[in-house]
Amino acid sequence: MADDLVEHGWSQQNIFLPAQLTLELAAECHLLAAGGALHAARVGRGTAQTIRTDIRGDQILWLKAGQSAACDRYLHIMENLRIALNRTLYLGLAEYESHFALYAPGASYQPHLDRFRDDDCRTVSVVIYLNHGWLPEQGGALRLHPQGERTQDIAPLGSRLVLFLSADMLHEVLPATRERLSLAGWFRRRPTLGN
Ligand code: OGA
Ligand code: MN
Repeated sequence: MADDLVEHGWSQQNIFLPAQLTLELAAECHLLAAGGALHAARVGRGTAQTIRTDIRGDQILWLKAGQSAACDRYLHIMENLRIALNRTLYLGLAEYESHFALYAPGASYQPHLDRFRDDDCRTVSVVIYLNHGWLPEQGGALRLHPQGERTQDIAPLGSRLVLFLSADMLHEVLPATRERLSLAGWFRRRPTLGN
């Protein structure tokens, strides 16, 4: 994965999360959504945040350590990945933040970068999919636009992980004909002085 990140700016692992854990996380996301715990994701930063479903149509909930056994197992796996990436790439990844994301049928996320102008701490972006038996004709691909390489469409199939460099990789989420669940996350480095 580290080699792919350096060479291409992204990496894909098709069977990253154990199947059982993927099911448990999907069930938890559904339950939270049914209980009204998810909220419309916003675009922009600070006081300029607005809901713009034409730009970004997902419903999200940030994860907290200790919220469930399944989330803690997931966060533990990501902590091991953080340590492994630091060992091979010396990126100085200091922490991990992650949210559930639910895209209703037809919802999308227009092309964007994950690094904010006023916050350059997000270094490696992660998406893990929680959708059992996803078919290509159901849409909902993550479309990557690697610089100088072919566009990549990646179906949001359960247990699959995609990693990319937050500052460089332009990407978007295409609309789907069924509900699309994922965990999005970011490995962050410590802020530099004046940030
Ligand atoms: C994001 C994002 C991609 C996906 O949440 O910033 O780009 O495939 N998600 O869900
Ligand atoms: Mn993104």
